[in-house]
Amino acid sequence: MKKRKKTFLFGLAILGIAFAFNPAQAQMATGEVLVNTCYSCHGTDGKSVGDMPTVAGKSKNFISKKLKDFKSGKKSSTVMMRITKGFSDSELDAIAAIMAKK
Ligand code: HEC
Repeated sequence: MKKRKKTFLFGLAILGIAFAFNPAQAQMATGEVLVNTCYSCHGTDGKSVGDMPTVAGKSKNFISKKLKDFKSGKKSSTVMMRITKGFSDSELDAIAAIMAKK
């Protein structure tokens, strides 16, 4: 029993170390990874070739506001409401910041 507890605590310590070292790296990747989900519809780097609106290069504020309006339902949409609901507001801001620079 005692040994099990020690093993458990050791496991927790390892997990703690893993989490302590990861956040900086994870945060750097977050926006870039999230924004990949947009390209299938809005074109590579958000530059659409079809009927889909081009998102790349629009201002961060414009994109961020649109995304939040889709999420809240203030702006009606067919798919964007479902997509934006999967992200927190700060993630939407991170996505908008990257899209604006494309
Ligand atoms: C499944 C396809 C699909 C994906 C994936 C998708 N979008 Fe959209 N997007 C649309 C459609 C369709 C519209 C038009 C509004 C509607 O009907 O939902 C739109 C509209 C928009 C608009 C408004 C453009 C304008 O000029 O009014 C923005 C901004 C936008 N999308 C950003 C994004 C971002 C950022 C992502 C990635 C998180 C994303 N979209 C992922 C299909 C998609």
